Amino acid sequence: MRIFLALFIVMTISTFVGAAEVAVGQRLVEANCSRCHAIGLEGASPLAKAPPFRAVVKRYPVENLEEALVEGIVTGHNEMPEFTFDPDQALAIIAYLNSLKVAK
Ligand code: HEC
Repeated sequence: MRIFLALFIVMTISTFVGAAEVAVGQRLVEANCSRCHAIGLEGASPLAKAPPFRAVVKRYPVENLEEALVEGIVTGHNEMPEFTFDPDQALAIIAYLNSLKVAK
């Protein structure tokens, strides 16, 4: 019985941590990316050339971005300022981007 209780607690906590990470990622992209990119499940990007994040996540695995986020995104981003995030922040942004995959 106790093992089930322990499992239940672990699962509840990890769900909570996952959700918190997505929320942190959302705050980071709101602050740093949203003036050019559409960051949500709908709406056009403020800067027409910047792809909406929900389109970016369909184009390639967002995990590939993790390194770029830490080392500085420069990839063909002429108009985009260079960003560097610490690894925790990068993971939070990835978690947020993954949460957009539900979009059609
Ligand atoms: C000043 C405007 C601007 C800001 C701010 C900005 N971007 Fe971009 N981003 C662009 C533009 C424009 C493109 C389209 C690529 C190009 O042609 O330069 C782009 C493309 C991208 C792509 C797709 C790259 C590819 O190879 O398809 C990713 C991923 C991306 N941005 C992530 C981010 C993230 C994460 C942030 C916030 C940390 C951010 N961008 C902030 C302008 C911006």
